[in-house]
Amino acid sequence: MDFNLSEEQIMIRQAARDYAERELIQDVLERDEKGIYPTQHIQNIAELGFMGMMVDEQYDGGGMDTVSYVLAIEEFSKIDAAVSVIMSVQNSLVCYGINKYGTDEQKEKYLKPLARGEKVGAFLLSEPEAGSDATSQSTTAIEMDDHYLLNGTKNWITSANYGSIYLVVAQTDAEKTHHGINVFIVEKDSPGISLGPKEDKMGMRSSDTHSVMFTDVKVPKENRIGEDGFGFKFAMKTLEAGRIGIAAQATGIAAGALDRAIQYSKERKTFGKPIGHHQAIAFKLADMKVKIEAARNFVLKAAWLKDNDRPFGVAGAMAKQYAADMAMEVTTEAVQIFGGYGYVKEYHVERLMREAKLTQIYEGTSEIQKIVISRDLLRD
Ligand code: CAA
Repeated sequence: MDFNLSEEQIMIRQAARDYAERELIQDVLERDEKGIYPTQHIQNIAELGFMGMMVDEQYDGGGMDTVSYVLAIEEFSKIDAAVSVIMSVQNSLVCYGINKYGTDEQKEKYLKPLARGEKVGAFLLSEPEAGSDATSQSTTAIEMDDHYLLNGTKNWITSANYGSIYLVVAQTDAEKTHHGINVFIVEKDSPGISLGPKEDKMGMRSSDTHSVMFTDVKVPKENRIGEDGFGFKFAMKTLEAGRIGIAAQATGIAAGALDRAIQYSKERKTFGKPIGHHQAIAFKLADMKVKIEAARNFVLKAAWLKDNDRPFGVAGAMAKQYAADMAMEVTTEAVQIFGGYGYVKEYHVERLMREAKLTQIYEGTSEIQKIVISRDLLRD
């Protein structure tokens, strides 16, 4: 078993760390408070190659592996998970899905600008009545002569406004239930698309989340991905990949909170010594470190399995469940270590705690991961 990272992987991690520590940190508090989308940062990380990391080089991507990707996501998330979720949806849902299942024409037209980071992508699966129960799609795509006609509403869509290339999951034949679901590439500026107001979220406030409404939107037939009826499997497969990214994000959020808690424990004195020298705090720090390292190992294993073309769905679900729940625990402990200071925005840990909460909810709640894991255990 080889735990060494390659030189390239170390360089990528360092590049992400440098950008996060030098640039993202500058305005993260203001963007969080005011809900300002990180337009310039997304352009900058695109130029650094982080918006199409795993796309094949022939389609203008970085051709990097999943291990490099999770290392980068962790580094960005230590400082700002709102930026890393935009990057995660772009890389591990939208680009991954088109790169793996799209036609050459779809890749030329849509994947290339995504991989170069000139365009941002969004993944539209969730609906008002179809969150965890993803088979219950009520958005419809009716087949016409040379196009599909799309109607319905999607909820909680990351990059709905700033994104311009949507992957939309819709029911094409209700009688076939989940075998009658398809996924389509839809250009956001198509007539008939409108957005709800920006969601005023608890955390990751500078990412861009809206509902999206489709009214008689014409989608060219050639924009369907895969064979007729492939949409639900497509969604499950891309979510498998996405969950590794969110697990890495949760690990990064927790690691960011630990970094701050360590620093504070060295500086803050009570009863004549730094609080880190009190076992009550020192043991908390040790527990936080152990949990983060366990999550990181889960994440790296899932990424390695994916890179080696081995099944990674259950490993990704375990990574996400553990890392998300762990991030909630670790960030809560970090706030406790900071005491009253932890409860005010200036010290960042309350923001990290708010960000951690979302990792237990999106791309499948922690309970959904338990369904995936337990079904695998009970399979005959
Ligand atoms: N790979 C391939 N196929 C799969 C699969 C997988 N991982 N998981 C299920 N399937 C297939 C099954 O084989 C089955 O196909 P057949 O009928 O042909 O055998 C079909 O899908 C239905 O399977 P299930 O009966 O197991 O499906 P289910 O309805 O019980 O649901 C679930 C399974 C895991 C709970 C799934 O619904 C799920 O993942 N739900 C959560 C959805 C989710 O994560 N939403 C997040 C939205 S995206 C987001 O948050 C993005 C963002 O902006 C940040």
